[in-house]
Amino acid sequence: MTAKLIKGTEIREQILEEITAEVAQIKEKHGVVPGLVTILVGENPASVSYVTLKIKTAHRVGFKEVQDNQPEDISEEQLLALIDKYNKDDSIHGILVQLPLPKHIDEKKVLNAIDPDKDVDGFHPVNVGRLMIGGDEVKFPPCTPAGIQEMIVRSGVETSGAEVVVVGRSNIVGKPIANMMLQKGPGANSTVTVVHTRTRDLAYHCKRADILIVAAGVPGLVKPEWIKPGACVIDVGVNRVGEKISEKTGKKVAILRGDVDFEAAKEIAGYITPVPGGVGPMTITMLMKNTLKSLKFRLGID
Ligand code: GUN
Repeated sequence: MTAKLIKGTEIREQILEEITAEVAQIKEKHGVVPGLVTILVGENPASVSYVTLKIKTAHRVGFKEVQDNQPEDISEEQLLALIDKYNKDDSIHGILVQLPLPKHIDEKKVLNAIDPDKDVDGFHPVNVGRLMIGGDEVKFPPCTPAGIQEMIVRSGVETSGAEVVVVGRSNIVGKPIANMMLQKGPGANSTVTVVHTRTRDLAYHCKRADILIVAAGVPGLVKPEWIKPGACVIDVGVNRVGEKISEKTGKKVAILRGDVDFEAAKEIAGYITPVPGGVGPMTITMLMKNTLKSLKFRLGID
């Protein structure tokens, strides 16, 4: 059996087109577009490239985009004042502070300073609470879990009553996706198990999964014999396992590997996400969706 590939790159294009059309409609009717600010502190190369892509994507879908780069030695007080400025700016609907922050800045304090109604990352405790309650309370589901759920739904995989096993219990992926899949409603209604580094028998649980979501950060952790035939396998792992020279650009690029042994797993699973090109492209896409949602909440439209 060869699994159907769930390609994040293709689903991204569909969603970005939907967002672009909706932004144009809102602009015509209400005379406003979603505004997204990304605040980058310092010059961490991975962060620079993420932020550049976020801003490029925001531009593509017709948002007002602001890239606010700050020096590595900005004080915590100055950064909090900057966030306060954007909290009060009516043309900004989404505020994203790129993580990680330099050590002298308290990350928790900074994330908690963002107005929860502009927290398009969904990291503020108020939004974590809203997600836990579910239903109409949810404003901004965190982007990676939201992308995972969107991929499952758009691939036509049945979630209602399905056994979902989540490998990993991080605040950014494992805990929120587990919570989202057990809520009442479409794309959810699943029976959820979360396994982690202290779980006694990882293989036992994985083998029961109709939908296996792996976010452990351990390359090749999930073995093909742990996969139930026909299961939907979502691999969130993006592990740098080496470097190679790109044939396209001639430059050094990272060799990426997921948490699942893809080549063997695709012969057993019914659906599987590749690495790269699977979950990765969905995160920024869902950031755009959250920013658009933020403007719609403000305008009182659905
Ligand atoms: N750093 C790596 N991923 C993310 C993300 O999704 N949001 C923010 N704010 N920082 C990140």
